[in-house]
This record gives sequence, C-alpha cells and structure tokens, in this order.
Amino acid sequence: MRWWDIDQVLELEKDLFPEDAWSRGMFWSELAHARGAEANRRYLVAEEEGRIVGYAGLASSGDQGDVQTIAVARTHQGTGLGGRLLTELLRVATAFECHEVLLECRVDNIAAQKLYERFGFEPIGFRRGYYQPGNVDALVMRLTTDRTTEDRTTEDRTTEDRTTEDRTNEEKDHG
Ligand SMILES: CC(C)(COP(=O)(O)OP(=O)(O)OC[C@H]1O[C@@H](n2cnc3c(N)ncnc32)[C@H](O)[C@@H]1OP(=O)(O)O)[C@@H](O)C(=O)NCCC(=O)NCCS
Repeated sequence: MRWWDIDQVLELEKDLFPEDAWSRGMFWSELAHARGAEANRRYLVAEEEGRIVGYAGLASSGDQGDVQTIAVARTHQGTGLGGRLLTELLRVATAFECHEVLLECRVDNIAAQKLYERFGFEPIGFRRGYYQPGNVDALVMRLTTDRTTEDRTTEDRTTEDRTTEDRTNEEKDHG
C-alpha cells in the first residue's frame, strides 16, 4: 500500500468496518512507519483490474507481530483472497523475525475467526469492550512462530499484491 491507495482503501474501510473505520490520518500514520531502515509495519493491497479489492497490514515490535488489519471487498469475500493476504502477512512476520503473531477480532466475526483458525491461530483471551462505541468484546488470538513460515498455503495469485507503509497506535486493530 502506498499513500495514493488510501482513497480506495478508505472506501472499502467505511463499508467493511462501519462502526470503527480507520481515518485517513490513521492510514497515513501507519504508512509512515512502513518505509526506511527502521520500518516496523508492512501494508499490502490486492488489486484486480486496477481496483483495490483487499488490504492487510502487520506491525512488528521486538519478536512479536500484530495483524493490524485485514479486509476483502464484499464482492471478493469467500474466494480465498483473505487467506492469500494472511499468507503474505505471515511471510512479512517471518521477515521481521517475529516469534509470535497476535491479533484481535470481534467475537461476533465468525468468518474472520475461521480464517485465522485455519492458519493455526489459537484463542488466548478476551478484551472486554475493546470495540467502541458498540462495546463489543475482542477475541485475542495467537500464532506461535515456528508456524509463521511457509508450510501453510501456496495458493496461486489471481491478484497482484504490492507492499506499503504504515500508521500509529491509537486506533483499534481490525485484525
Ligand atoms: C475476514 C475476511 C478478511 C476473510 O476474507 P475472505 O476472502 O472471505 O477469506 P477466505 O475466502 O479465505 O475465507 C475465510 C473463511 O471464512 C469463511 N467465510 C467467508 N465468508 C463468510 C461468511 N459470510 N460467513 C461465514 N464464513 C465465511 C470461508 O468459508 C473461509 O472458511 P474456511 O477457512 O473454513 O474455508 C473478509 O470476510 C472480510 O474482509 N471481512 C470484513 C472485514 C473483517 O471483518 N476483517 C477481519 C477483521 S478481524
């Protein structure tokens, strides 16, 4: 993801996370941490015929990775794109030498939980009222890193993934 992708990403963001969409400033801030020698974020977009149809981001801190967000356009959900984006994020985690990857997910987001479980993430706890203003709990999931590497999916890519930059920490993670 690059700054010029933000307009399209925001359109998807508002549609897919209507209660707690990230702002333009949040994306800019995230992308600011995705460049240079000290980069500790990586943001990806998936494109089809020049349109962004999915995006995802990972932050690393020490040996821990965090899935910051992952999203697929409604028109492309259930096609395996979420799995391809997550595969790429886990490759990024390996490149950052993360030993574990954590994420938060709304407790009512069954599609996302199924995706994460398929990749070996396990529930480790809850964060009560994490998502506001709806006061929805987050399920915290973790993947320990001897599993963050290759052996998951080697699905073919029908979309082009390209990398980006990053943001700050005030917003609630979507992934
Ligand atoms: C979660 C999300 C990224 C998954 O992307 P996707 O491209 O649909 O993912 P996949 O096609 O790889 O399917 C993932 C799993 O979800 C299941 N799934 C997809 N849509 C579903 C739905 N509406 N209801 C229930 N399960 C669903 C698939 O069957 C698949 O399950 P499996 O792994 O057991 O086969 C996508 O649904 C999305 O963007 N949702 C809105 C944003 C969001 O909630 N992001 C995650 C925040 S934690």
